[in-house]
Amino acid sequence: GRLAGGIAHDFNNLLQVVAGALEVAQRDRTPPDRKDRYLKLALDATTRGADLTRQLLAFGQRHAWQPRALDLSRVIGEVGEWLPRLLGDHVTLELRAERQLPVFADRGQIEQVVLNLVTNARDAMPEGGTVEVSAEARGRVVVLSVHDQGVGMSEETRARIFEPFFTTKERGKGTGLGLASVHGIAAQQGWELRVESAPGAGTTFEVRMPLIEDEPVSAEYELPNIDASAARILLVDDDPQVRNVLAAMLEDVGYDVTPAGPETALAEVEGGDWDVLVTDQQMPGLSGVELARAARQLRSDALIVFVSGDDASSEEPDIHRVGKPCRASELVTAIEHVRTRDA
Ligand SMILES: Nc1ncnc2c1ncn2[C@@H]1O[C@H](COP(=O)(O)OP(=O)(O)OP(=O)(O)O)[C@@H](O)[C@H]1O
Ligand SMILES: [Mg+2]
Repeated sequence: GRLAGGIAHDFNNLLQVVAGALEVAQRDRTPPDRKDRYLKLALDATTRGADLTRQLLAFGQRHAWQPRALDLSRVIGEVGEWLPRLLGDHVTLELRAERQLPVFADRGQIEQVVLNLVTNARDAMPEGGTVEVSAEARGRVVVLSVHDQGVGMSEETRARIFEPFFTTKERGKGTGLGLASVHGIAAQQGWELRVESAPGAGTTFEVRMPLIEDEPVSAEYELPNIDASAARILLVDDDPQVRNVLAAMLEDVGYDVTPAGPETALAEVEGGDWDVLVTDQQMPGLSGVELARAARQLRSDALIVFVSGDDASSEEPDIHRVGKPCRASELVTAIEHVRTRDA
C-alpha cells in the first residue's frame, strides 16, 4: 500500500512536470529559448521516471531471479571492475574476497545488493574516503560486508532505512528504494542483514548467507556432486514430454522420481510419498500454486520447487523457482537448496 501510494505520487509529479513543460513549449508565443528550456525539463523528468521504473523493476524482478550455485568472490571481483567508475575520484574502493565462496544466489541479486550499498557508502562520504567491500567465510556463513567512514546514521534514521521511499537525500538525489530492494532480496533469499552505524562514525552493512556444502561448480552448468539417493521427487507437469525429460534428468542424478500430470497430481501430493515437490507453475485446470497450498496443508514445511516459463507468478513464500527451460544443474541445485536449507 505504502509502496503503491508512493509510486503513484512520484509518477504523478513527474507527469505533471512533463505535461506542464510540453504545454508551455507548444505555445506559439513562447520564445524559442524558453521552449528549449521546457523541452529539456520534460526530457529530464522522463530520465527520472526511468530511474524510478528501474528501481521498481528490481523490486518486481524477484520472479525472474534464477538463483544457482555461484562463487561470491568471483562475482564481487567482477563487480569491482566497474564500481570505481561509479565512485568517482574522491572515493577509493578496497576489495577483499577469499578465493572461493560458494553461495546460492542470482548474479543480478548480488550486483544489486553491492551496487546499492556501495552507492550509499559513497553518498555518505561527500568529502571522500574509502569504501571497503569484503566477502569472507565465518564457519558455514558467508559474510558480505560494505564499510564506509562516512557521516553515519542516527538511531531514528537507522530505524527506517529499509522502508520504501525513505530517504534523507535531497529531492532528485535519492528515491529511497535502494535499501528497500536490498531488504527485499535478502528476505527472499533468507539472508540476514546487519547494520552498524553511529553519527560521525561510519557505517557497516553485512549480508550473511549460507555457504553451500559442495565446492562451487566451476562451469556454470556442471552438475553439483550430491547424495540424491534418499530423495523422492514428485514431478508434476502437464506436458508429457517435458515431464519425461525432466524425470530423466533427475533420475540420472539418482533421485527417485514419480512423474504426474495435472489429473493425478493432487492425489499424489496428498498421498505424501515424496520429499520434494517439483511442479510446473502454469497448467490447465490446476496451478502450481494450488498444488503448493495442498502440499503445505499436508506438511507446513513441505519442500517445493516451481518450474515456470514466465515470471507472472504470485508471491509464494519459501518456494524456489527455476526458469523454463532449465538445465539439469539448475534444477538439481534448486532441489538441493531446499533440501539442505533447514537441515
Ligand atoms: N552508508 C550509509 N551511511 C549513512 N546513511 C546511510 C547509509 N546507507 C543508507 N543510509 C541512509 O538510509 C537512507 C535510505 O537509503 P536507500 O539506499 O534506501 O535510499 P537512498 O540512498 O536515499 O535513495 P536511492 O538508493 O533510492 O537512490 C539514506 O537516505 C540515508 O539516510
Ligand atoms: Mg541508496
